[in-house]
Amino acid sequence: MVEVSVCIGSACHLKGSHPIVEKLSRKIADAGLQDQVELKGSFCMGDCVNGVCMTVNGKKIRNMTAKDVDSFFESEILPLL
Ligand code: FES
Repeated sequence: MVEVSVCIGSACHLKGSHPIVEKLSRKIADAGLQDQVELKGSFCMGDCVNGVCMTVNGKKIRNMTAKDVDSFFESEILPLL
């Protein structure tokens, strides 16, 4: 199981965490990976300046944007499956 957490703290929310969660959730569903990838929201990760912040199995990802979701999915999630 790959665990993906997206920060939904107020700073990251303002920087667009919601569209990131939506796009990621859709990609996971389209790939039929709901049983292998757990997508969660997280409170502030203490790195608001570099938001949107995420973790993948504990590895921190910074400066995430919705347009980066496709490449992020391919480079950070798929190799872990
Ligand atoms: S709100 Fe996301 S790191 Fe602080």
